[in-house]
Amino acid sequence: MDRPSFYVTTPIYYVNSVPHLGTAYTTIAADALARYRRMTGFDVHFLTGLDEHGQKVAQAAADNGVDPQSWVDTVAPKFVDAWKMLDISYDDLIRTTEDRHVRGAQAFLQVLKDSGDLYQGHYEGWYCVPDETFYTEDQLDDGKCPGCGRDVQFIREDNWFFRLSAYQERLLAYYEADPGFVRPETRRNEVVSFVAGGLKDLSISRTTFTWGIPLPFDPAHVMYVWFDALLNYVTAIGYGDPERADEFARRWPAQYHFVGKDIIRFHCVIWPAMLMAAGLELPETVFAHGFLLTKGEKMSKSKGNAVAPADLVGRFGVDAYRYYFLRDVPFGADGSISMEGMVQRYNGDLANDWGNLVSRLLNMTEKYCDGLVPGKPAGDPADDDADIRRIAESLPLVFESRMAELDYVGAIEAVWELVKRTNRYIEDCAPWNLAKTDETRPRLDAVLYTALEAVRIAALFCAPAMPATSAEVWRRLGLGDIAAVTDLAMEAGWGRLPEGSAVVKGDALFPRIYEEA
Ligand code: MSP
Repeated sequence: MDRPSFYVTTPIYYVNSVPHLGTAYTTIAADALARYRRMTGFDVHFLTGLDEHGQKVAQAAADNGVDPQSWVDTVAPKFVDAWKMLDISYDDLIRTTEDRHVRGAQAFLQVLKDSGDLYQGHYEGWYCVPDETFYTEDQLDDGKCPGCGRDVQFIREDNWFFRLSAYQERLLAYYEADPGFVRPETRRNEVVSFVAGGLKDLSISRTTFTWGIPLPFDPAHVMYVWFDALLNYVTAIGYGDPERADEFARRWPAQYHFVGKDIIRFHCVIWPAMLMAAGLELPETVFAHGFLLTKGEKMSKSKGNAVAPADLVGRFGVDAYRYYFLRDVPFGADGSISMEGMVQRYNGDLANDWGNLVSRLLNMTEKYCDGLVPGKPAGDPADDDADIRRIAESLPLVFESRMAELDYVGAIEAVWELVKRTNRYIEDCAPWNLAKTDETRPRLDAVLYTALEAVRIAALFCAPAMPATSAEVWRRLGLGDIAAVTDLAMEAGWGRLPEGSAVVKGDALFPRIYEEA
C-alpha cells in the first residue's frame, strides 16, 4: 500500500543575513515533526528554503558592495551549513532565484491574470523594507512601521493589484468551516477578526527596483516579494511544470506550514486567497509559533541580541540544542530563553536523567553480564517491572496525541516519565546488590533486561528531537539503524530487545557542564 504523503514546510528565510536562533527554531520544530512522521510510516516531504528577492535583500547586497545575485549566492551556503550543523533532515531547499521557482511563479500569476483577479492601479502609501510590507497612513505607529518600529518609505507607483477584497467572505466561511486551518486558537481568532474588519486589494508588483521576478504579462514590473515567496510552497513540488504534474497532485495540499506569529497574515489571509483564486486547495494547517525572547525582547538581528546557533552548538552539542528549544518553549507561545535555563536543562534532563541512565545500564551489563543483553524474563513480572512496561506501552499513543497537537513539551515529558521511572527502578532494585549472590541472579537479569528495554524504547521516542543521540544509544545496544524505523508502534512493542545482543559502553552522552552560565 502507498504510504500517505506528509508535506511540511518552514518559511523561506530572507538572505539579508545569516541564520540565527529564531530562524533555527522554526526549522528544528518542523524537522522534529518530519522525523517523527517518517518513523510513523508517512512518505514525508520536508521543504525549507530561501527568500532571495525584494528590496531588503537588494539593500543588503548594495550595503556589501556586490550585486544581488552574488550576494544571495554567498549567503545561501551559510543556511545550508547551519541546517547541516543542526541535523535538519529537509528533503528540498528551494531558492526563489532558481529557475524552477521563477517559472512556476510566473505560471501562477498568469492564471490569476486570466481569472480576472489582477488589475492595474495606482498605489500611494507607505512601505517597510525590513518587513517588506505595505502600510496605509493610519496603520503607522507614530510615523513608524507598526510591525518592527523602523522607518517606512513613501511610495507612489502604478502597480498591479490582486483582488484580495473579493475573498473576504470566502475566507471567513473557510475559517468557520475548518477551525483547524489556523492554529493555535489565539492566532485563528486574530486572523478572523482581521479579515472581518475588511480587506483591501493588495499591490503585488513594483516598478521602482528590479530585483524580483518579472510579471509574465508586464515585464516592466517585478512581483511583490511576498507574493513571490509564498509561491515557493507550490513551485517546489512542481506547480506549473507539466512534467511534474503527478508529483504536485500527490503532494498538494500541504499538511503543515510552520510559521512565526509575525507572518500569519501573509500565510492565513493572502496565501489562501491566492490559492482560491488559482483554484487550488488550501493547506491543512498553518501553525504559528511564538517568539524566542531574551530578557523579555524578541531576539532579532536588528536588535543586536541575536545569538549564533554555532556558539550554542559548540558549547552544548547539537542534540542538546535541539532538545532545549523543543522542551523549554511551549510551541505556539512566546518563550524566554537563557543560558542559565539551557545549562539547567542540559545538566538535569540530559546529563543526569538520560545520559546517566544509559551509561549506568551499559556499565552494569558489561560488568555483570559480560556485555550481553540478558534473557527476557519469564513468568509473572514483579510490580515494578510491570509498571515500567505499562509506561513504555502507553508511549506510542500518548506521544502521538501530543505530537498531533504539536505539543513538543508534552511529548518529551511523556518520554521522560519513562526515563525517570526507570532511573528510580534501578535505585529501588539495586542491581549491584542482586549481583552479589547466585540466588538473586535471575532477578538481576530481569531487572537489567527491563531497564535496557525501557532505554531502547525511550531512545525511539527521543529520536525526533535528538536523532544523533538516539542513533548512538541504539548502536551501543547492538541494534540496527534507528533512522530506518518506519513503524514506530511496532518497534516500540515491549520485548523486542534481543537476548545476547552485545552492548558497548562508550563515553558519557552528555558530560556535565560545570562552568557558570
Ligand atoms: N521571508 C519571510 C518568510 C517568507 S515565507 C513564504 C520571512 N523571513 S525571516 O527570515 O524574516 O523569518 C522567518 C521566520 O523566522 C519567521 O517565521 C519568524 O517568525 C521566525 N523568527 C525570526 N525571529 C524570531 C524569534 N526571535 N523567535 C522565533 N521565531 C522568529 O519572514
